[in-house]
Amino acid sequence: MARWIIRKAVPADINAIKSIEDRVQPCPWSKEGLLREIEDKDGKTFFWCICPLISPWEILGYICFRILGRECYLLNISIDKSCQGKGLGTILFRYMMRFLKRRKATRLVIDVHKENKEAMSFYSKRGLLLAAPVEKVRGNFCVMEMKLFQE
Ligand SMILES: CC(C)(COP(=O)(O)OP(=O)(O)OC[C@H]1O[C@@H](n2cnc3c(N)ncnc32)[C@H](O)[C@@H]1OP(=O)(O)O)[C@@H](O)C(=O)NCCC(=O)NCCS
Repeated sequence: MARWIIRKAVPADINAIKSIEDRVQPCPWSKEGLLREIEDKDGKTFFWCICPLISPWEILGYICFRILGRECYLLNISIDKSCQGKGLGTILFRYMMRFLKRRKATRLVIDVHKENKEAMSFYSKRGLLLAAPVEKVRGNFCVMEMKLFQE
């Protein structure tokens, strides 16, 4: 039986999410920025948390992505430090991919900080490719992308 559940984040989760964000992200989002995405006023952003089945209010990590037309922008995926490397990021990523399949999304795009080699390795093992070689990227972020479901 599954040990985790994935559920929609709600505004009451903000403090738990913000403290994970501050612990694990090299450039953490502000509380206001996180809350804006959780509230999803335009109906295009999805913000989900992964929690233990027996304690669904305890957040271990989260994923946030936006679907614009047929393209998906993965904005954030974070797993709390003590839970990293146990497969939870993969579970969230796969869950998003199944959702994107149902939505018939055609492309997945991610901005990754140039120095975040662990995240780049995570994404490339899951099929994303760098849009340009890291050495050629001018700013701090490189684009990684993946073609999805073609009709
Ligand atoms: C990147 C991240 C979401 C991966 O989640 P995770 O639950 O640790 O990943 P999993 O256990 O499912 O998979 C581990 C894989 O991720 C990679 N990885 C990334 N960070 C890792 C870490 N700190 N510890 C172990 N593995 C890590 C490894 O390459 C490993 O690859 P493999 O299992 O395919 O061989 C997570 O480590 C994290 O929150 N990192 C900090 C925030 C971040 O950089 N987010 C991405 C940019 S928005």
